[in-house]
Amino acid sequence: MRLGTPEERTVKGIFLAGGHGTRLHPITLGTSKQMLPVYDKPMIYYPLSVLMLAGIRDIQIISSPDDIENFRRLLGDGSPLGISLSYAVQEQPRGLAEAFLISADHIGDDSVALVLGDNIFHGPGFAGILQDKAVDVDGCVLFGYPVRDPERYGVGEVDADGRLVSLEEKPEHPRSDLAITGLYFYDNDVIDIAKNLTPSARGELEITDVNRIYLERGKAELVSLGRGFVWLDAGTHDALTEAGQYVQILEHRQGVRLACLEEIAWRMGFIDREACLRLGEELSKSPYGQYVMEIARAG
Ligand code: DAU
Repeated sequence: MRLGTPEERTVKGIFLAGGHGTRLHPITLGTSKQMLPVYDKPMIYYPLSVLMLAGIRDIQIISSPDDIENFRRLLGDGSPLGISLSYAVQEQPRGLAEAFLISADHIGDDSVALVLGDNIFHGPGFAGILQDKAVDVDGCVLFGYPVRDPERYGVGEVDADGRLVSLEEKPEHPRSDLAITGLYFYDNDVIDIAKNLTPSARGELEITDVNRIYLERGKAELVSLGRGFVWLDAGTHDALTEAGQYVQILEHRQGVRLACLEEIAWRMGFIDREACLRLGEELSKSPYGQYVMEIARAG
């Protein structure tokens, strides 16, 4: 099965993989959180697969000065996957919205999708939703997901028609159970909005402040990811273990692999079958590589 060849889109991707990972200490004292395994692959593969499934091929990875070279070693310039990867440093974790300032040249005059390096998405029809939302972005598109502990996240409140009416960052008393996930689409105005942001009380350029400006302009769309959909953020020990278990169970049961970048590159038409097979052969000592070879051979 192929997912079809999307036309080249003018949406750039930003992948934010910085931060100190303090909630995962001591594991993250020696490595970055987004490099940790989620079952059979590094965490970074999952959010990267989301950008690729959206048809986005020009992606900048932002990480800390200590970690950026590890990402470069893992993923290179992206050309074997038919994508273009560039790298930029965030000196200190000064907030998610700083990404738009760091990546302003990369974004240029285009729209942009930002994904956080510890967010894992999986659900039916997700590629279609992403590809739909990545066309002609006007304003911002946020993805909401109901959770038991909304106070840990950005929280969106919707009216009876499902329209977004308020946004708050980690409120003590959330007005709804709808978390705003770590995947965001913006038009080019986001660069100017980020430039004019005031840092929050904790000294960060908050993504929720960016989103609130779009909301006030009447340009914030919320896509609700409902039951049957899985959104995990692998930012705590329990969440990381649970994410690994989820991937393991699904892969064992169905015989497919989640976030297999080589498979996605092929199914999206970024590379051909022979190239996919070659990438599998390079990893052929691992079950992951064997899977890539199998699906390429099966056509
Ligand atoms: O996961 C979704 C949530 O992500 C949203 O619901 C929140 O609105 C949003 O603020 C964010 O909340 P977190 O508490 O998860 O943000 P955190 O500071 O943990 O950063 C998320 C990821 O981004 C994490 O992997 C580290 C990385 N990061 C963070 C900051 C502040 C950076 O790369 N640079 C940064 O400056």
